[in-house]
Amino acid sequence: MKAFVLAAVIATLGPAATTFGSYAWPSSYDEIEDIYSLRQGYEARLLGDKVASCGVDGGAESQAPDWLRVAFHDMITHDAAAGTGGLEALPFPQSVRCRPLGLGVVAAHSACGGITNIPYRFGHIDAQSAGAAGVPQKHDPVTKMADRFAAAGFNQADMIALTACGHSLGGQHGPDHNHGLVEDDEEAEHDETAEEEEDEEPHDEEEEHGEELENFDTTPNGFDNLLAIEYLDGTSKSPLIVGENATTNSDARLFASDGNVTMVAVAASQATFESRCCKFFARMIDSVPSSVRLSDPLEVIDIKPYITGLYLNAASDIVFAGRIRVLTTEGPSVGRDPNDLAVRLARTSRLDVWSSDLIDTTCVGDAYGPFGEIFAWYEFETFIEDGITRFNIHLAVPSTGEKTVYDNGGLDYPVEYKLLYQTAESCVAWEAVDGARVMTAVVSVHNEFALLPLKMDLVRHERRQGSIKRTLVKVVISFTRTTEERGD
Ligand SMILES: *[C@@H]1O[C@H](CO)[C@@H](O)[C@H](O)[C@H]1NC(C)=O
Ligand SMILES: *[C@@H]1O[C@H](CO)[C@@H](O)[C@H](O)[C@H]1NC(C)=O
Repeated sequence: MKAFVLAAVIATLGPAATTFGSYAWPSSYDEIEDIYSLRQGYEARLLGDKVASCGVDGGAESQAPDWLRVAFHDMITHDAAAGTGGLEALPFPQSVRCRPLGLGVVAAHSACGGITNIPYRFGHIDAQSAGAAGVPQKHDPVTKMADRFAAAGFNQADMIALTACGHSLGGQHGPDHNHGLVEDDEEAEHDETAEEEEDEEPHDEEEEHGEELENFDTTPNGFDNLLAIEYLDGTSKSPLIVGENATTNSDARLFASDGNVTMVAVAASQATFESRCCKFFARMIDSVPSSVRLSDPLEVIDIKPYITGLYLNAASDIVFAGRIRVLTTEGPSVGRDPNDLAVRLARTSRLDVWSSDLIDTTCVGDAYGPFGEIFAWYEFETFIEDGITRFNIHLAVPSTGEKTVYDNGGLDYPVEYKLLYQTAESCVAWEAVDGARVMTAVVSVHNEFALLPLKMDLVRHERRQGSIKRTLVKVVISFTRTTEERGD
């Protein structure tokens, strides 16, 4: 009696969708947590390279201000009363759940020296239409700007502080290439500005335009209150404060509009500046349409497993490979010294009996989080003959004999071995035919289920008329049983 039969499906490739929920492994927000937590080091994610490069020499290399600007342009479409518009409330897929702009703001702030952990909530986006157009323009009178901010739920003091916070970073490229929160004429009143920009990575406009960057303050890469200090003591060189044409000195007009009260307060103390800005950034990134449900703030996870390989090999053994991420920030005092820590896995068999042999891991490196977190990585690969249904993670401190078992909040870490994706036997065609690439997926199915129909939900990107954003389309595809059988 063979244990597995193989089935194959041929389809065009698309990414999988995720769902919304609170944390237990595996979770639909594992990916978002990785992007948020793994900024530098081993297995670091893209966000670290792209945003944490805050720049060192005058802002030219920094992408952090772009994230603030794009997020602001998106947020200011929010209509608080009507519950429409707001951050990432764009007419594209229901599935934009990681809210990249919100994450970009949080990352830009910490990358440029911000020390406060701004709550970041991922969300379920149901928005089907964009919010009001109308990014404030730099020649707008203060009252018109204030109206736009008020509609988004921000009062005059908020408006001044938010501008001072946003313009703490970066600058403006020459007279015609505004890098600030307010817009140039030719870019403004264009509904899809933020959408288009969000589709690309923030980029270095200086190279593109070959123009000199005029910084908003003398520390364009430091998230600090120097903009306010320089504005008040008359040393500011900001093109939006002391520009030649008074009509476009929008920051000067805004900052003076409450008799300088807000600017005096933030100039007086970096701590006041930091706490006010973080409060506003948090409100800004949570300004979403009422149809959006936001999660609790994301927190870095203490112990997190990753399965990197789970398939049937030619010898009919299950290859079980992966890594365990362990938060080691607190170090030896809490038994988390990577030089004095053994990480092992206990697993069950297919009959759900715990095996007495623990699976060893090897420490392979560290990763670093947004606020000084350190994660140590432990990798494993083993061959399993008798199946697996779940595992636990055992941490032992050799020097003290202290042992702790992590069991996923009492659930254990589940593993499904009766349906395995055969990575090495599956492929995606290198060349596209009629704009689509052919994908062949092979899975092994336990004998127990071999006669049941097997289907795959495939989610595919599709272009849409009149929108730069592609939509996601789900198709259901049936697998065909092959004649191959493995195992006994
Ligand atoms: C606000 O500060 C600016 C810059 O120092 C100054 O020019 C202006 O007169 C001040 N306005 C008020 C009302 O104090
Ligand atoms: C100042 O800027 C405004 C708005 O862009 C423009 O209409 C005006 O002509 C400019 N004035 C001068 C003197 O350049």
